[in-house]
Parts: sequence; structure tokens; C-alpha cells
Amino acid sequence: MNQFSRRIFVAGNWKMLTTPAEAAALVKALKVKVVNIHQTEMAVCPPFTNLSIVAELLKGTAIKLGAQNLFWEEEGAYTGEISAKMLLGAGCEYVIIGHSERRQYFGETDATVNRRLKRALAAGLLPIVCVGETLAQRQAGETEKVVETQVRGAFAEISPADFAKVVIAYEPVWAIGTGVNATPEQAQEVHAFIRRLLENLYNRELSAGCRIQYGGSVKPANAAELMRQPDVDGALVGGASLQAESFAAIIKTAEDLDKG
Ligand code: PGA
Repeated sequence: MNQFSRRIFVAGNWKMLTTPAEAAALVKALKVKVVNIHQTEMAVCPPFTNLSIVAELLKGTAIKLGAQNLFWEEEGAYTGEISAKMLLGAGCEYVIIGHSERRQYFGETDATVNRRLKRALAAGLLPIVCVGETLAQRQAGETEKVVETQVRGAFAEISPADFAKVVIAYEPVWAIGTGVNATPEQAQEVHAFIRRLLENLYNRELSAGCRIQYGGSVKPANAAELMRQPDVDGALVGGASLQAESFAAIIKTAEDLDKG
């Protein structure tokens, strides 16, 4: 918790990894390691095929369940797609939207992020909306411009009441899966920029209340310095969330931070 009552939130993005058996083993190992976590919010986001099995294993724990994507239509003839209702039925509370890998490999745009976001909110799922610049964009000095466009596009026509439910993840593309994290200063700079932008788009209270996770090569060794930054409210963790040991260590780091 920090001075704006933003509860630190650490979520694991398992991406296209884990079979059902591996997912079960991972979550069984994780849940015993985090029984004493009370302040930090925790979630895991397995692939669709593992949601139900993980939901079952998470019963009675404080770990929440999220999905990695959803389709914007309510239901129907959309072969291969997954609806908000299906995710809710599988036990999801959260859903990641607009991850850079979806933007890079699956044609996700700010407009489709916005459509997915609207559906998630209408259905009662809590969205984790991802934004972040590529290395070329950073080197060209375009980080703020890119992030601003992504944020404005994602939240177009999203009401203040709906916006209050949203979590944002700032994930510089060059830091994802590379082992090279943004420095705490780089992360703080962009998080503060996003918060100023949100104040502009909404108001001071909603901006101050919005949780902004950092994502991109978060590991136990760098988690404290990143999450200690005033505008960094947790982490979206990829690689290091696939091992119970390292994910639990990041969660414990968050729990031990005194940002008040
Ligand atoms: P990483 O991935 O922690 O493996 O860099 C983060 C993410 O893609 O959410």
C-alpha cells in the first residue's frame, strides 16, 4: 500500500507455456510459498486451457486468476476465440489486454485493445492494459508519444467509473524477455508520465488511484528497486513467474516494501 492507497499488485503472465500438468505443479508449489502474504495482491495468468484446473487449485488462497486475452464480441461464430463470459465461468477475475506480443504477432492495435477493454469492463472482468515502446521508438526519443497514443487509444470512450477498475502495465518491449530491465529511473519516468496523462484524461483522484505495474525482465534481484519507485505499483512478471521460487520471492519483496 502507498500514500494513495494503491495496493501493490504482482501478476504472473505465463504466456504460451505450461501443460495442464505443469500448471498444476506450478500453482501447487506457489500457493504454499505465499500463505503469509496479506498486503500484496497476487494473480497468475495461465493459458486458457489451464484456467479451470488452476482455478480449482487456487480455491481458498489469496491468489487471483487472470487470462491473457479475450475477444470483444459477446458470443457466436468466432472459431478459436474466447469470450468474457467463458473467462468468468472459468474463474477469472482479471484479463491482460494489449500485451506487446499480441500487438507484435497478432495484429493487435489500439482500436482492438479498446474493443476488448470495453467488453471486459461490460462483463465485469478487471483489465490489465499493457502499453510500452519498442527499442527503436525509445532510441528515436518517441517513448512518451508512443505511450500517450496507446493510452489515449485504449481508454477512448471509457467512462471514469469503468476506468477506476483498470490496471495499467507499462512494459517496454525492449525489456520483455530480454533480461534487460528498465532502470528504476526509466520506469518511474514513464509511470509518472502516464499518471500525468491520466490526470488529463480523467482527473486527479482517478489518476492517483490507478495502479501502474512495471513489466519487463522483473526478477527477484531487481524487483525491490523497481517497485520502490513512487509511481510503480507492482509488477507484471513473465519468465520469473514460471518458477514458484522466483515468483514467490518477487511477491515477498513487494510485501516487505514500505511505500507508505
Ligand atoms: P518477462 O515478461 O518478465 O519475461 O520479461 C514480462 C511480460 O511479458 O509480461
